[in-house]
Parts: sequence; structure tokens; C-alpha cells
Amino acid sequence: MKSQGILLAGGLGTRLGPLTKSVNKHFLPIFDKPMIFYSISTMLLAGVKSLTLITNAEHVESFRNLLGDGSQWGIEINFAIQNSPEGIPQAFSIAEPYLEENTHIILGLGDNILYGLGTGRSLSANVIPEKASIYCFSVSNPTDFGVVEINTRGMIMSLEEKPSLPKSNLAITGFYSFPYDAIEESKKLVKSARGEFEIIDLLKVYESQERLHANVLPRGTAWLDAGSQEGLLESSEFVHALQKRQGLLVGSPDEAAWQIGNIDSEQLARNATKYGKSEYRTALLALIEGAN
Ligand code: TTP
Repeated sequence: MKSQGILLAGGLGTRLGPLTKSVNKHFLPIFDKPMIFYSISTMLLAGVKSLTLITNAEHVESFRNLLGDGSQWGIEINFAIQNSPEGIPQAFSIAEPYLEENTHIILGLGDNILYGLGTGRSLSANVIPEKASIYCFSVSNPTDFGVVEINTRGMIMSLEEKPSLPKSNLAITGFYSFPYDAIEESKKLVKSARGEFEIIDLLKVYESQERLHANVLPRGTAWLDAGSQEGLLESSEFVHALQKRQGLLVGSPDEAAWQIGNIDSEQLARNATKYGKSEYRTALLALIEGAN
């Protein structure tokens, strides 16, 4: 099945003010790379070949400058505009012109970082036709997230948004997969009290139709939400520590594209030369050396 993805990179980024006063949150650095590189890497590892990136009108040109048409990573990137950030489910109708009918859709939030062996691949490997999937991660502060309760047989018992008394500590991460009918289902949603279309409401539609599947991300996986001050710093520290200790890159779309065979070593070398005198460039060139 051909994989197609939507990446949301709009929003207001108010939690990161004043950093986000004139800069879109997804360009902020997570150690040595722009934030958006991390979710793009996850999409690449999930096998996405066609990606629609949604952002605000004022930032679309900057995204085009940074990401190009995706051919350097062996994919196609389309850009679509969200006029005002009225919620995550809007992604489906905005991206509709770029989506291939009757094909599953992987939806990601541009400020979410997933790291761990096979996490990207698991987003497409776990696709069940006709069902939506969520990916959950055990956290110490579930009151800050959408929370899912599942029983011992893996059945979903409840879904709640930022509950004051959470029924579990399983937070719903910002990567989802949906059947094509999410476009129509999302159009039927009504706005919540805070004036947004809510992803939890869309998930509840699938749950009520017994078409929602929960995957618990294994230990050894990392999930970081870089959208808060703490999360932004923690993400940089995490990437820095891992890259320094292992000498491997984390969240590089260039490496991901090469690893999965989307691009060859010549293309990777061409990509590397575009990154100036950076250590990132050196790390990419070292990958090619290592493979020879
Ligand atoms: P949020 O962090 O919920 O919202 P935000 O980015 O506007 O930030 P803040 O809460 O600090 O004001 O968004 C999660 C991700 O989804 C983030 O990557 C931005 C994206 N997003 C959109 O692109 N459009 C939207 O309408 C919403 C709600 C989020």
C-alpha cells in the first residue's frame, strides 16, 4: 500500500513565546537541526512517499526554502495553507487535494519527536485497513495530554483530553494513522468549547465504530513534545547526548532517506554539500565513508 502523510506545522506556538513571535516554531533548533527535520525523518522511515506539509500563509515560503520539493529525499512534498489554526482534524480537508483516494493517511504533528529502533516503520507496519491507529507512551504527567485507557486484551476502554483524574498514564502521541474516510469524518466534527476541532473527538468517532486501534510504544523508545520551553530544551539535550555518545545522527531526513534506499550515496553527498561547513554535513559524509 502506498503511504501518504500529512505533517502539521502551523499553529501559533504561544507556549514558546517570545521565541515564536516572528519565527514559526518548527524552524527552532533541536540541537543541530530544525525541529521539522525530526518529524520528516519519522515520516520517511514510515515509508511515506507523498507528504503534505500544512502551515500558515506567512511561513510557507520559508518551508519551501528549507524543504524544497522533497526530491533530495526521494519523496514528493506539497505545501498547503491553514488560514487559521482551528485544530488538528482540519488537516484532512486542507490536504484533501493532495491525497490519493482510498489510501491510508499517516498524520503527524511537526513538534513531536519519536525516536527508537523501528518506531518510524511501525507507523506503517501497524496499519489495519479500515481502522485508525494511535501510538501511546507511558508518561508521568498524563494530565497534560490526551489519555487512553486500555484493558489487558488491548481494547480501548476510554479516551479523555487532559483529564484531571487520568484513568491511565498512557498519553496519545502526535502520530496517527487514519483510513481515507477521515476526510469525511473530520468534516462532521463540531468545535469544542475552546473553539477548535479536536483530534480526540475524531478518535472518539472511530472508537464508537470499533475502528480504533491503540499501539503502545515499547520501552527504549523516546517520545518528546518540543512545543513547550521544557520540551524544547529537553529535546535538544536528548539529541545532543545521543549524537555525542553514539556518534550517530538523530532525526536526519538525509540519513533516513539514504538508509531506506530512497536515495543513493551520490545524492546523499550532494545533499551534504548544501549544508555548508556544518558538523551535520561532516556527519552525513562520514556515513558514506563508513559504508564504503
Ligand atoms: P499545539 O502545540 O497544540 O498548538 P500550537 O503549535 O499553536 O502551540 P501553543 O499551544 O504553544 O500555542 O499544536 C500541536 C502541533 O500541531 C504543532 O506542531 C502545531 C500543529 N497545529 C497546526 O498546524 N494547526 C492547528 O490548528 C493546531 C491546533 C496545531
